[in-house]
Amino acid sequence: MIHESLKLFMNGFHYNAHPMAMMVGIAGSLAAFYHDSLDPENPAHRMITAIRLIAKIPTLAAACYKHSVGQPYVYPKNNLDYCARFLDMMFGVPAEPYNVNPIAAKALDLLFILHADHEQNASTSTVRLVGSTGANPIACIAGGIAALWGPAHGGANEAVLKQLNEIGDKSNVAKAVARAKDKNDSYRLMGFGHRVYKNFDPRAKIIREMCYKVLNELGIQDPLLDVAMALEDVALKDEYFIERKLYPNVDFYSGIIYKALNIPVEMFTVMFAIARTAGWIAHWLEQNQERDVKIGRPRQIYVGPGPRDYVPLNAAPDRGPAGIPGVSGCPRARRGPRGRSQSRAAVGGGPEPAGQQRAASWCVPAGSCTGHDLSRSGLQPDPRSISCGRV
Ligand SMILES: CC(C)(COP(=O)(O)OP(=O)(O)OC[C@H]1O[C@@H](n2cnc3c(N)ncnc32)[C@H](O)[C@@H]1OP(=O)(O)O)[C@@H](O)C(=O)NCCC(=O)NCCS
Repeated sequence: MIHESLKLFMNGFHYNAHPMAMMVGIAGSLAAFYHDSLDPENPAHRMITAIRLIAKIPTLAAACYKHSVGQPYVYPKNNLDYCARFLDMMFGVPAEPYNVNPIAAKALDLLFILHADHEQNASTSTVRLVGSTGANPIACIAGGIAALWGPAHGGANEAVLKQLNEIGDKSNVAKAVARAKDKNDSYRLMGFGHRVYKNFDPRAKIIREMCYKVLNELGIQDPLLDVAMALEDVALKDEYFIERKLYPNVDFYSGIIYKALNIPVEMFTVMFAIARTAGWIAHWLEQNQERDVKIGRPRQIYVGPGPRDYVPLNAAPDRGPAGIPGVSGCPRARRGPRGRSQSRAAVGGGPEPAGQQRAASWCVPAGSCTGHDLSRSGLQPDPRSISCGRV
């Protein structure tokens, strides 16, 4: 259960608030309700808060959904297991009993297990970085939820469904694939590619199988799912995708399963957050078991212009469109044709082309970098600020 006063907090949100926006705020607010066990130095506090978070995040998530549809919040039923209880809180109403479909609960269980942890991804690194400051675990998890929101990370499963909707029909798939391949177009196929896996994501193989099973067993026929399957088929055979090792990732199939389970698209990233809470908190516990946790301190290399004379604003010859001298030096203005910051090249892409100056910088999140990355960038790993050896 959650503190009854949290309902009042929840009611403060507009009915059409995005559930991830609510989750970031409400998850963080738990620290105000359960402040009796927040000391990271205290092993008993750590364990209580870990259990609380894993137990309460699904309740909060379902409450966010209920708020958005204007239905009463459903209390968690302890006679149901984790996933069945969540589905009951999502889809149950006080007016009649709700029977959880065991196929749906099993599929959700699989998705939650496969999403529970995945080493130093962006949100987990965020949790660890926030944790390295000694912040309480609830604040750390709220940071993780915020990091998960982006479409390059946990927001991808929502983006997949949005993109499938835009494509709309199997006959448009070839056009979408052509756009994704066009270097002058920032369009990407959502749910394809992975920062680490350059072969098939092993989780995607399992989820793909479950995806077909769920659609089959629930007897679902949805034109959008036909679009997804056509997209998968084309992309798996296309040279561009094969060459770059861009396979459908875990988010491609999980979005399709969530849709089959009637989970609204806006809730997809929230579903990911529920599952990942276990992994985040496991990382946080591991980090805090160590004595003398060092604060994470990403490093950066300045690659902008060298020293130059101060020129008063009204005497500056080169005033940019916003009236700001040298505005063209800002990272936004220097995005490549595909909309990506060119500063990424410094992470692992080798030296900058001669004569090209960039104002952007790159950083090394604690625990997510390797000495290898650094050496390619001409830096030596600094054991004091890089936690690779400790994760
Ligand atoms: C996941 C992702 C961020 C990984 O990025 P990355 O490892 O840094 O890969 P890069 O951005 O360096 O891309 C490598 C090449 O593949 C292309 N590419 C990568 N993902 C692509 C996609 N989804 N659609 C089309 N082209 C893609 C890039 O344009 C680049 O081509 P180039 O070498 O000709 O310039 C990226 O694949 C992506 O944006 N995927 C879609 C979002 C998504 O599904 N995210 C969830 C990940 S679990």
